[in-house]
Amino acid sequence: MSHLLTIADLKELARRRVPTMFFDYADSGAWTEGTYRANEEDFADIKLRQRVLVDMTDRSLETTMIGEKVSMPVALAPTGLTGMQHADGEMLAAQAAEAAGVPFTLSTMSICSIEDVASVTTKPFWFQLYVMRDRDFVRNLIDRAKAANCSALVLTADLQILGQRHKDVRNGLSAPPKLTLANLFDMALRPRWCAAMLGTQRRTFRNIVGHAKGVGDLSSLSSWTAEQFDPKLSWDDVAWIKEHWGGKLIIKGILDEEDARMAAKTGADAIIVSNHGGRQLDGARSSISMLPRIVEAVDGRIEVHVDGGIRSGQDVLKAVALGAQGTYIGRPFLYGLGAMGREGVTLALEIIRKELDITMALCGKRRITDVDGSVLAR
Ligand SMILES: Cc1cc2nc3c(=O)[nH]c(=O)nc-3n(C[C@H](O)[C@H](O)[C@H](O)COP(=O)(O)O)c2cc1C
Repeated sequence: MSHLLTIADLKELARRRVPTMFFDYADSGAWTEGTYRANEEDFADIKLRQRVLVDMTDRSLETTMIGEKVSMPVALAPTGLTGMQHADGEMLAAQAAEAAGVPFTLSTMSICSIEDVASVTTKPFWFQLYVMRDRDFVRNLIDRAKAANCSALVLTADLQILGQRHKDVRNGLSAPPKLTLANLFDMALRPRWCAAMLGTQRRTFRNIVGHAKGVGDLSSLSSWTAEQFDPKLSWDDVAWIKEHWGGKLIIKGILDEEDARMAAKTGADAIIVSNHGGRQLDGARSSISMLPRIVEAVDGRIEVHVDGGIRSGQDVLKAVALGAQGTYIGRPFLYGLGAMGREGVTLALEIIRKELDITMALCGKRRITDVDGSVLAR
C-alpha cells in the first residue's frame, strides 16, 4: 500500500481490478468529455500563496456542512451503480465515510438500498433524489429516506435527461452485466471482483426494483432513465419535495448565477455547484470556474458547496478559498473502492486529508475555517 500515494495511483489500480464496463462508467464524461477534462484542468490554473515563518501547530480541518460537523469539508458525492465498482460498494463507502467523519450521500441509482446502508451504519447519511414521473414512487423514496434517519436530501436538478457517454453505449453498460463472451472474458481477468460479487445478493438497483411499479429489470439504465425520469421537473416541484421531506435540503447541479439565485429563494439549505462531473452538458464551464460568481450571486443567502474535478487536498483548499463551505468527491472515492473496497475509500480520504492539511499549513493557515481568498496567489 505504501506505493499508493495519490488518487491517480488508486485510479490505475481500479483500472486493473474493475471490469472495463464499470471502470469506464466512472472514468467518462458526456460527448467529447471537454467539460469532464475542464473540471480537473481548471484547478491547476489556480495558484496558491506560499507563506513562511508562521506558527503551524495545532491545525484543524474541522468545519460544518449544512450545520453538521465534518472532520474536513469533503463529502462523498452520490454515484450510481457504486455496488458495481466493488460488491456492496455503497455499504462499504458509507462505513468508510462514517469512520472518517465525513458525509456519505447515497444515490437513488445505487445498487445497495437505503435500508442496506442504514443497516451497516450508525450515523445518519444523506440521500440523493432523482425525480421520476411516478410521484408515488418518489414520495415513497423520500419516506424511506426519512425512516432510515437520513439527515439531508440532495435533490439532483441536472439529470432529467441523460447526457450521452459514448463509452457506456459501446460497452453496453448494464447492471448486472450481460453474460456475453466479451464481458465474460473481461471479468475473468478480474477474479477478486468476481469472487466478491458472487458473495453478495446485491447486483441490481435495490432502491427501485421491488419498489417502483412494474419494474423488474432495469438492466438497460439509459432506456429506463429516458422512460422514467421526469423531464417536466421544475422549480415548482422543489416546494412540494421540500415540504414532503421536511428536513435539510441541498439542490445539486447548479452552474449558473441566475439558477443559484432561484435556488436561494426556495429556502433550501445549500446548493452544490456542479455539472455532474462533466457527465451531462458537454461544453459547460468547469464547476470551479463558476464557483466565485455563484458565491457572489447568492451573497450568503444559501450555503454553497462544489464538486467536479477535485483530485487532491490542494483542490479542496482552492475550493474553500473561493467560497465553498464544503466539497464532494465522486471519482476519487470510486477509484479507491474499485481498487481496494472499504480500505480504498479510507485511503482516498486519507490522501486528500493529508494533502489538505499540509497545503493549508504551507499557506500559513491553521484552521480550515480561517481559509479565504488570501491563500490564493493573484
Ligand atoms: C460514476 C458516476 C455516477 C454518478 N451518479 C450520480 C447519481 O446517481 N446521482 C447524482 O446526483 N450524481 C451522480 N454523479 C455525479 C456526482 O455526484 C458528482 O457530481 C461528480 O462525480 C463530481 O465530479 P468528480 O467525479 O470529478 O468528483 C455520478 C458521477 C459518477 C462519476
